[in-house]
Amino acid sequence: MSSRADIAAIKERIDVISVISRYVSLKKAGSSYKGKCPFHKDDTPSFVVSAEKGLWHCFGCGEGGDIIGFLMKIEHISFLDAAKRLAAEAGVDFEAGSEDGERERLRSAMNAAAEHFFANLRNEATGKRSREYLIGRGYKEDVWERFGLGYATAGWDGLKRALGPRFGEDRLVELGLLVRGEKGTYDRFRDRTIFAVFDLSDRPIAFGGRAFEGEPKYLNSSTTPLFDKGRTLYGLSWARSACAETRRAVLVEGYTDVLTLHTAGLTNAVASMGTALTQGQADLLSRFADEVVIVYDRDAAGSAAALRGMRILGNSGLAVRIARLPEGEDPDSVVRSGGADAMREALDRAVPFYRFYAEELRSRSDPSSIGGKERILEEAREFAADVRSLPLRQALAAELADLLDLPSEQILKEISRRSRRAVERATVLPTARRAPEEDLLVLLLRGDVQWKQVAGVLSPEEFSEENRPIAEALAETAENPTISELMERLDGESARRVSQYALASVQFDDIERAKDDALRKLVTLPSIERRIRELDEELVVSQEKENWDRYNELTLKRVALVNEKLARKGTHGNED
Ligand code: CTP
Ligand code: MN
Repeated sequence: MSSRADIAAIKERIDVISVISRYVSLKKAGSSYKGKCPFHKDDTPSFVVSAEKGLWHCFGCGEGGDIIGFLMKIEHISFLDAAKRLAAEAGVDFEAGSEDGERERLRSAMNAAAEHFFANLRNEATGKRSREYLIGRGYKEDVWERFGLGYATAGWDGLKRALGPRFGEDRLVELGLLVRGEKGTYDRFRDRTIFAVFDLSDRPIAFGGRAFEGEPKYLNSSTTPLFDKGRTLYGLSWARSACAETRRAVLVEGYTDVLTLHTAGLTNAVASMGTALTQGQADLLSRFADEVVIVYDRDAAGSAAALRGMRILGNSGLAVRIARLPEGEDPDSVVRSGGADAMREALDRAVPFYRFYAEELRSRSDPSSIGGKERILEEAREFAADVRSLPLRQALAAELADLLDLPSEQILKEISRRSRRAVERATVLPTARRAPEEDLLVLLLRGDVQWKQVAGVLSPEEFSEENRPIAEALAETAENPTISELMERLDGESARRVSQYALASVQFDDIERAKDDALRKLVTLPSIERRIRELDEELVVSQEKENWDRYNELTLKRVALVNEKLARKGTHGNED
């Protein structure tokens, strides 16, 4: 563990301003410093550094993070190299070598966990329901073995009892296999069918667990020393040779999509594990392919997160096409009902990204009315300003010219000018939830509000996909986590968001009020009702276990939720 303490020591001792000043000319502005961003063409100084928080963020291009991230990005070096350089400068004795033994132990623990889940699935009694579930979905024994499927038992401590003594609970917590609650540790994955996630050397680094019913449908490992979700693609180790051969990859959303495509012989499929693709995943994919065909289910494909992912892929130099599926279908279901051929047909009909994007715009606004044209242009301008390739922007402009019946050169000019609004809010949530969720994160990351003040009514799962990892990290850390404690748990994409929120310039007159407003908008009546139902189930469990402390604690939570529900019903119509 010494290296973790080392990193903290490095960050404490390094003067962020003096390091960044070697690359950027910074001027003091209030409590922070400002300069022109070194990572994009910046005319207005939109690059902000806070010495006190140890963070930087560019409000123009959205890059941001801590000092190690800055050095990695500007010098194009790895985390370890950046940490070593800063260690030397800070006079910290940084021994990367001492970490190797520990990493090996973490790997053995992950292997043992994968075997444990696998054995559960094979266990006559405990694995029955999961086996039936898998077979019902067409995954027979050979598939379990080939893709590392398993089952996490229904109790609270199946894995804890099997692996705790051998590997130590701290290590299992660090690997996201156990969760530390107020009353000790318990299994993170309970009564779920398990999908192991492997790295490129075929070593298990994380798990996804699917519930038989109920929410969340999938539960995934948190970011750990072995697992950086933002740099992992599910299935890449199985797909890499097919991708490299054809230079083409098929990108899907889910675990089951990958399994079904691979078993049907479409072996170049990988999954982003949700629609929010990261730069790290795009970089990874571009090592193995030149072209990527995206097959998401229909609603997901047009979402802001998915469109942004497509742009990231395009910016990484990949040719991007989108295959359309019938309403309500995903690759898994298409193969199940129509076989591999149905999927191949859909892949063959895939359209280039710019055409797909134009069609999305058309489905949302009427391109024949003036107002509709303006809305389409406005949206396209914000979106295309971040498309880095000129030929791609040109293709998009030609497509929009067709759509809007306007000259293509004119449109190219329009969409090449970054709009002021895009600069001001380099964020991406759907508008309705954007403001409250971001306000709440600003409050949390400034330390004005504690996670435990919101935990009673809002769970990390209710955050948008983009911000969920930050909420999870907040939920998992102790009170008052430092920014660097949070960063340790987050991948680069989330670190960028943390710096954005922590350094945002918004002011709240009344913190309590701002928090309550945000919560009121975020927590919907159905989600309150769902939490009450979940609590009721937990109450039964704690009663059976005669765990009265837990029982009382849950009862208090339930009272708070019921009050909130009644308050909502009284003021109905006010939410959203
Ligand atoms: N996902 C997740 N957490 C959730 C829901 C989804 O991490 N609560 C990720 C998983 O990687 C999942 C993928 O997003 O595989 C796609 O989600 P979804 O379309 O809802 O599930 P399917 O893969 O279609 O799952 P299934 O077929 O088992 O219903
Ligand atoms: Mn599915």
